Amino acid sequence: MSAQKAENGDLHEKIREIFSGITGLDVDEVKDDSELDELGIDPILARELARKLSVLSGRTIQSNQILLSGNFIDLVNHIWAVINTRNDTANGNEKDTSSRKQAYIEPTADRALTGTKHPKSSAFNDILPTSAVQEAFRLTKNLTDDFIVDGHMGNYCCEVMPRSTELCIEYLVEAFEQLGCNIKTAKPGEKLKPVPYLPKYEKFMQLFYELLREHARLIEINGSEIVRTAQNCPSKSATSLLEDLIQDEPSHAPEFNLIQVTGPRLANCLSGKEDGIGVIFGTAQGRQRVSDLYALSPINRVWIQQLAYFLEQLVKRMPQDGQPLRIMELGAGTGGTTSTVVPVLARLGVPIIYTMTDISPSLVGAAKRKYGQYPFMQFQVIDVESPPDPELLRSQHVILSTACIHATRSLPVSLENIHSMLRADGFLVLLEQTKQIPFVDFVFGLLEGWWLFKDGRRHALAPVAHWEKIMKQVGFGHVDWTEGKRQEAELQRLIIGYAS
Ligand SMILES: C[S@@+](CC[C@H](N)C(=O)[O-])C[C@H]1O[C@@H](n2cnc3c(N)ncnc32)[C@H](O)[C@@H]1O
Repeated sequence: MSAQKAENGDLHEKIREIFSGITGLDVDEVKDDSELDELGIDPILARELARKLSVLSGRTIQSNQILLSGNFIDLVNHIWAVINTRNDTANGNEKDTSSRKQAYIEPTADRALTGTKHPKSSAFNDILPTSAVQEAFRLTKNLTDDFIVDGHMGNYCCEVMPRSTELCIEYLVEAFEQLGCNIKTAKPGEKLKPVPYLPKYEKFMQLFYELLREHARLIEINGSEIVRTAQNCPSKSATSLLEDLIQDEPSHAPEFNLIQVTGPRLANCLSGKEDGIGVIFGTAQGRQRVSDLYALSPINRVWIQQLAYFLEQLVKRMPQDGQPLRIMELGAGTGGTTSTVVPVLARLGVPIIYTMTDISPSLVGAAKRKYGQYPFMQFQVIDVESPPDPELLRSQHVILSTACIHATRSLPVSLENIHSMLRADGFLVLLEQTKQIPFVDFVFGLLEGWWLFKDGRRHALAPVAHWEKIMKQVGFGHVDWTEGKRQEAELQRLIIGYAS
């Protein structure tokens, strides 16, 4: 390996710099024997890496080859081999991550909070009386409006959302201008030139045109003709709208900061000069802003806190017979939900086994490092679209998931998989956005994952009635959800489905 290193030394260091740029690590932290998982390379970063390495090497480097490389030097050697292969035969088909075998990340502890040895699921007593769950959920549901007001969301629909939408519209108008369609200077009645965009953004563009037509009323669409109306464009630039928003509504800054990541680069993405995944997840700053959106912004925090409250009420109502309550979180990501829920559970001091999972091994690895101090936590890679490993069947009392299940191809398949992991006395509680919020589409619509759905949905996000229908179809019993008098209560909801 060292002789080869001498030959490809220059390439070696360039790849190290690319890794450093993508992961946010210092160059000297990217060591030859660093495992790619340890460096945080997951399927999303692998795609961005593949793009950059393809440019560097002048060959097509596939993200699946990156994911299959064990450590950094293996990958350097692979790229060296690809460059030196006359025909670029090293390329396989893009790996479908949904069929990945579920890898088990060694648990931090095999004991629950009280030190109870892991029992096999069949050894569990029924410790979840339905009446306790229903009572805890009823109490939680009744407090929906209070959570909204206390969590800085009381003025969201009438003040914050219209302004964040205006910001998106201004970014959109600026992007259209860069792409040769100047909405600002077009006269009322003037026919507008359609802007060029990559075919993969077809659905995204339809949303944009709807935003310009319905929300901003800047255009009318007559068949294939797009015509400018007499409506004025926002009078301020996106930069100045953003500054005003951050100053006036500082608690929502994580949301505005994320809009600022994609807004100025929208034209580049639509035209293919940059890739949406790279723009959002390709830098440490972008990744931090996504993580802040889930962990800190009121649009998510309100309902995460409501979820934590619900679990607390439930635990307080459970008969304490010494058996641990098994809770599994799916699509836990960077821990926006975990970081609120787990400390609450830890404080209650009852036996719990909390399994934090995600499809991304690097996110699970990072979570393991972050939450290692909680002896009752376990960590596992789980793809909710794949049938669960047999030992997980009927194993959990509670499964929870925030902002993940909508991102899967088929709600029936994912919900059926989840249902099969629940014990008969268990339940699923989802936190899902049940109404479209323009900035969410504006940011996440750039990701191909946002458009993955192939189950008849018209949009990744579904109204609560749709969740209820599918949950019942796949075998859940009673389904209930949070609601309130405030409009904001319709934006996100906790949706609970009883296993039987
Ligand atoms: C929007 S993030 C979730 C945020 C997280 N729940 C929180 O509270 O911070 C969506 C997460 O779902 C994960 N995910 C996407 N598809 C998945 C799948 N098929 N199975 C499991 N997790 C998946 C992603 O890796 C990502 O971490």
